[in-house]
Order: sequence, then C-alpha cells, then structure tokens
Amino acid sequence: MVVVCPRILPGCRLSQITRLLSTKAASVNGTKVEVLGREYTGDHMTNVTPHLLSHIGRDLHLQPHHPLRHVAQRVTQHMYRQYLSPRGNPLFSVHSQLHPVVTTHQNFDSLLIPKDHVSRKKSDNFYINETHLLRAHTSAHQSELISMGFDNFLVIGDVYRRDDIDASHYPVFHQLEGVRLCTLKELYGTHQNMDAYHLFENGERTEDHQGVHSAEAARRMEAELKGCLLGLATSLFGQDTEVRWVDAYFPFTHPSWELEVQINGEWVELLGCGIMEQEILANAGVQDKIGWAFGLGLERWAMKLYGIPDIRLFWSTDSGFLSQFRFDDPATPVTYKAVSKYNPCINDISFWLPKDQQYESADFYDLVRSVGGSLVEQVNLVDSFTHPKKQLTSHCYRIVYRHMERVLTQEEVNDVHRKIEQEAASSLQVSIRITPIVCRGGREQMTEPMSSQ
Ligand code: DAH
Repeated sequence: MVVVCPRILPGCRLSQITRLLSTKAASVNGTKVEVLGREYTGDHMTNVTPHLLSHIGRDLHLQPHHPLRHVAQRVTQHMYRQYLSPRGNPLFSVHSQLHPVVTTHQNFDSLLIPKDHVSRKKSDNFYINETHLLRAHTSAHQSELISMGFDNFLVIGDVYRRDDIDASHYPVFHQLEGVRLCTLKELYGTHQNMDAYHLFENGERTEDHQGVHSAEAARRMEAELKGCLLGLATSLFGQDTEVRWVDAYFPFTHPSWELEVQINGEWVELLGCGIMEQEILANAGVQDKIGWAFGLGLERWAMKLYGIPDIRLFWSTDSGFLSQFRFDDPATPVTYKAVSKYNPCINDISFWLPKDQQYESADFYDLVRSVGGSLVEQVNLVDSFTHPKKQLTSHCYRIVYRHMERVLTQEEVNDVHRKIEQEAASSLQVSIRITPIVCRGGREQMTEPMSSQ
C-alpha cells in the first residue's frame, strides 16, 4: 500500500516520510496514495496519515473469533432468521469486503447530505483527495447497492473519522448497515382488496411521513423496522432489557429514530434508523418500492455486550485479549476480564500556535496518534489562552500514555513525548513553550486544574 502523509506533502522531506512509512502495509510514492491496490493522486485535501492507513486491511470484522465478528454474525443471523424468501432462503445479502475508499458523492451526495453540511469538513474526515475519502459510514454504499439491484442487504466494514481521543473513540471503527426495500405486495402481503392500498401519494411532508409516502405505508414500514430492531437488541442484550425510541434526524431518512437501551442504569444509544428518503431510491433507479435503513457501531455493541472497557483493545493482537473470545458459537455469553491494569503515564505539552497559519487541534491529534501509536490513551486540550501583548495563542494538551499489555518505563514515555514535540514543531510550525517532562502516574491527576501562566 502506498500512502502519503498529508501535512508533509507540500515541501516535505522525503526521507522523513519514508522513515515513517516503511512498514509493509504502507509506503509512499511521491504524491500517490495507494489503498488496497487502488492508486489516487493526493492534493490539498489529503489528510490521511500513515498511522491511520496502517489499520486498513486489518479487517477486524472478518477475523475468526474476533469479538467484532461475533457481534456482526449475531446481527446477521438475526436478519437471516427474520427475513426468509418463500423458499426458505435468507433474503439479506451481506457485503463485508467493499473497498473503504469512496467518493464524496457516495459518502455525502448520494445520501442527500447538503454541500455545506458540517459532516463534510476536512477536520472530521480522512480525505484521500478532493474527490475521495475513507468512508465515514457504511451508509456510503447504500445507493450503489440499490442501483445494482439489491433489495435487502447488510454492509459491514471499517469506517474512518477524525474524532476525539478517549476510551470510546478511535479514528477507525466498524459499522453494520441494513437496508430493506419493499414492494406494496411485500409490505401488505396478499389482501383481497389490494386496490385499497398504495405506497405513494402526493401529500404533505409531516413529522410522521414523507410527502410521497402514504401515511399507512409509512406506519407499516415503521412498525416493521422497529419490530425487527427491538428483536435484535433484546436477543443480544436480553429479553428484560429496558429500551426506548428517541426521535432523531438524518439527512437520508425521514422519519428517523435512535434506539437506546439501559445498561447498568445508563441509557446507551445503540443505532440510528429510519424510513429512507424516497429521492435516494429514485436516484438509484427504484420507483415502486419503499425502504428502511439502520446503522450501528459494532464496537459500541461489543463493548456493552462483553464489558470491554477500552476501544483500543479491539486492535490488540495479545492472546490475553483474543483468547477470551475463542469460541465458535457467536452467542456464547462472556464478560471480558481485564488482562492487567497498568498505571497511566501523564505528560503535558504546551506550545504557541503558528501566527499566520491555520491550525486545528485535530491535526495535533493525528500527529500524536502517528507518533505515539496505540500507547496514547487520551489527549485533551486542557488550556488555551492568548497572550495580550504577543498576540499569540497557546495550547496545552494533556497526553495520557498507557500500554495495554505491560508497564511503560519513564524513558520510553519521555522518548515518545519528545518525538511528539519535535514532530509538532516541524510539521505544524508550533513553538514548544515548556518541556518539563514529568511522568505522573495515577488517573486522578487527569482532573488537576491547569494554570495559564
Ligand atoms: N450513517 C449513520 C451514522 O454513521 C447511521 C445511520 C443512521 C445509518 C440512520 C442508517 C440510518 O442507515 O438509517 O451515524
């Protein structure tokens, strides 16, 4: 795989990049970005990092016995059981190896996401170039699969977002998407007086249904969708689980909902869903059907189902983690037991932001991930102030280092921390303010107030 580190693109030093990229999964070739055998030309939008690209091809959702695969299999089995053809075959097809690079049309336009929508921002996505990005959600494949003639399908895959760094966020995670399109006959079965029923009408859009849908058809679709997903949630989390529907908004569905379940006294959002905007179907060449769709995060489900405390664990190759999921029946009940808990090591980094250049915290977060890899548990902006005379802004970030599988030595952490400082100074043009490297153990330190001196 050939990759380009974005910020190093213009005026970069090639030796530096090559050093960063000399792993098997990632390599660099001028401004070419290559992902799983496809080559793209980088441009001003390119912001994928070598560290991020090193996750491509891991395909956790396809790895035998991996917890994400267990969850995906359970969802798939539920859908298989729920929807059978008259001959007794599963109706849903499963697409779990679609290429993760999609066009901006697939990821946004095909889903009616407005041109100026915040979710398109460079700071929220990993762009390959102006026209391509790593998919931010599995919904990106809805339209193409419908155009290809699929009516009932699941998409399972890795998705990529520039996000916060904490125990439940990681720039790569996995989603499972479900889409079902119904004809009038499929929705109503065979009634005697079919002429009395219709899917479409020329009405007003209301809270409950789109203008083109008959209120009755929309109600039926809603009931079917909610019944299917409630069955799914209770079959995985237990029949007695408290559940609730919350009204939601997505540009690609109307009406839209989120399903929440109560786990250990806390309401947890499990999925988003809704009745597909008819325009999406029409654009994909479908005239006579109405559709519903849902999308869920596999990590979120697996963390709740197995009690996995940290999202980075899914990437672990340690047998202490993986062996806990080594069973063939995905419905085997297990509760994750921490292999071991090591103290975190907490270091701060403060710098002046470049004066005449755009700077975003997300750029720094990417850099920390690239240099620190999975040693970094959390990065928080803990202080920001502007010096009145110098007219310069200072940011202070707190970086929590912790190895999932062993004790980190202070030298090791200091080494990485220094590298982050050097890398930030050279590629983000920030000037490091103070460099007191003190490795402080203990989580309670994280809430200590910071001064702005
Ligand atoms: N794509 C949404 C996300 O990533 C999840 C989603 C919501 C998918 C509603 C759907 C849907 O298909 O109908 O947050």
